[in-house]
Amino acid sequence: MRRPVALVADGGLVDEVLHAAAVAGCELERVVDVTALRGRWHSASAVLLDEGAVLACEAAGFPRRPGVHVVGAGPPGAEVWRRALALGAEQVLELPADHDRLRAVLADAAEGVPEGAGKVLAVLGARGGAGASVLAVAVGQAVLAAGGHGLLVDCDPLGGGLDLTLGAERQEGLRWPTLRLTGGRVPASALRSALPGRSGRRGALTVLSCGRTGPGPEPEAVVAVVEAGRRAGDTVVCDVPRQLTAAGCAALDRSDLAVLVVPADVKACMAAKPLVERTAERGVRLKAVVRGPAPGGLTTAQVVEAIGVPLLTTMRPEPRLARALDNGRFPRATRGPLAKAAREVLAALHAH
Ligand SMILES: Nc1ncnc2c1ncn2[C@@H]1O[C@H](COP(=O)(O)OP(=O)(O)OP(=O)(O)O)[C@@H](O)[C@H]1O
Ligand SMILES: [Mg+2]
Repeated sequence: MRRPVALVADGGLVDEVLHAAAVAGCELERVVDVTALRGRWHSASAVLLDEGAVLACEAAGFPRRPGVHVVGAGPPGAEVWRRALALGAEQVLELPADHDRLRAVLADAAEGVPEGAGKVLAVLGARGGAGASVLAVAVGQAVLAAGGHGLLVDCDPLGGGLDLTLGAERQEGLRWPTLRLTGGRVPASALRSALPGRSGRRGALTVLSCGRTGPGPEPEAVVAVVEAGRRAGDTVVCDVPRQLTAAGCAALDRSDLAVLVVPADVKACMAAKPLVERTAERGVRLKAVVRGPAPGGLTTAQVVEAIGVPLLTTMRPEPRLARALDNGRFPRATRGPLAKAAREVLAALHAH
């Protein structure tokens, strides 16, 4: 585990830093001088320096590195600033005023993953019952099968709960109404331990589901959860309602890719149009997954032309799916049309 390291001498500042680390759940290593710091300079996930330490590090000829933060009781002098910049310092944190920012720095450092490591996928259905929630869960399963960490985020309060689709509705753990999150910063580790889901030999799949009753998430809460998953390197899969609520848009706007599940029928093609327009206005990167069967004989090419969205893949109906879902079992098979389509969606997300 790469821990952050601090070279801070002033007693008051030390207390502030230790307090912020404790609140962020971050194990912080303190060193007493530049000699002790030298061996940790490159390996620490972040470095906190007070003004004296900045001067000492520069005098010792330490090279630039990312993740250096200067802490002080007030604004640093120009000379300290110049030397701090030479070390690669990102910011100066005045304590106690900047306590929250320091806590955020330490929370990131504790997670030990570079900012922006995870990918965010949004899944939409062209019409009601298109199979969007099913595909969202299937993509989460594909992440788990590949040994990764997936986070399913249910943005549809009228969808009956995504935990139900996953077959996790009887599991304990928080849902949106009980999480009572209003925004701000959430550590991914706290989310993972509070939410229901499944774990594999290496990875895990967690679900933040809407409840059967109670309100859906506020947009700020969706942002907080999506960004927590992204920071932790998770693949975040958001089930977005077609009504494009504010919470749904918050997820869409943060997505690296959005997929539109389009059943191969005329009604779905027509219903897709306003949705395609509205996502295009938001600058969302949208691709289509065309789902068979085609009762009227529509071809994939005709569907794609009608909706004006590039094709990601096609998907035959998954045999025995409805029955499995009704029995609270999401199919775990890694073969079959649904799992194959999910892997293709995942590949497209990571190719971006
Ligand atoms: N790939 C598939 N193969 C066969 N049947 C499917 C598939 N995907 C979904 N279904 C069937 O369609 C039903 C509705 O799927 P799902 O809940 O995913 O749709 P949705 O697009 O999320 O609908 P909603 O408008 O309620 O959000 C499922 O319960 C299942 O019976
Ligand atoms: Mg749905």
